[in-house]
Amino acid sequence: MAIDVSAKIRIDRLQEGLRTKRLGRSILFSREVESTNKWAKELAMYGACEGTVVIAETQIRGRGRLGREWVSPIGGLWFSLILRPELRPTEAVKLTFVAGLAVAKVLREMFGLKAETKWPNDVLVNGRKICGILTEMNTTGETVNFVLVGIGINANFDVEKVFPEQLKKVVTSLENELGRKVRLESLFRSLLERLENLYELFLREGFNPVLKEWKNYAGFLGRQVEVTSPTEKLSGLALDVDHEGALVLRLEDGTMRRVFVGDVSLRTK
Ligand code: BTN
Repeated sequence: MAIDVSAKIRIDRLQEGLRTKRLGRSILFSREVESTNKWAKELAMYGACEGTVVIAETQIRGRGRLGREWVSPIGGLWFSLILRPELRPTEAVKLTFVAGLAVAKVLREMFGLKAETKWPNDVLVNGRKICGILTEMNTTGETVNFVLVGIGINANFDVEKVFPEQLKKVVTSLENELGRKVRLESLFRSLLERLENLYELFLREGFNPVLKEWKNYAGFLGRQVEVTSPTEKLSGLALDVDHEGALVLRLEDGTMRRVFVGDVSLRTK
């Protein structure tokens, strides 16, 4: 039997055999949206329940962290989850780590790829970005109304053909790593199952068990890195990610520094 791995997502297969209790019990699909996070936000504002997922074949204005654009051609897996955890905002931001760990684990389990987590929100394969996560929150004071976890996985396309020149060397896709296309629907279902698993662990036992495992997948720890934050550029040894999700750096002059926002790149020299 021929395996159907066309770029088009088969809506009827998104929920087929899905073994989750809350994530993906309600799935909305569109061929094209501006951004699944934006769509999810509108639904959440109208009261969409915990676990609702929106997924699109392509995004014309996909959003990345720090106001960046996220290239989202057909063939990728672009989706957002609506969560309503009873957590304080400082805890809810850690859902980025839950999602990153879920993606890294699924890419290893399903495809045998050596997927690694990179602080704060990336998953890499062979040192190149294959997945980005955008977590956004709506709060009233210390109450979290909802959290949107947007996940983008470069899947069935060749980055050489679809990415702008300056990104080609730093991103990769499942197709580039495996030399074949994958079934987006079964990848999606496995991700939801793993996400639910880890989300429940996080709600039940807190951040520690998730962080511990996330660190086991983090290839950048113990390496010399450069961190570009909105206000400064730092160089040092990536020592740890602490209980608040901050990156702990030992700078070149020996002082320690905790960083909450920024991008990490490995130092080559
Ligand atoms: C980043 O690495 O900067 C985060 C990228 C997040 C991309 C995903 S794709 C699905 C969801 N919708 C968006 O507009 N962004 C996220």
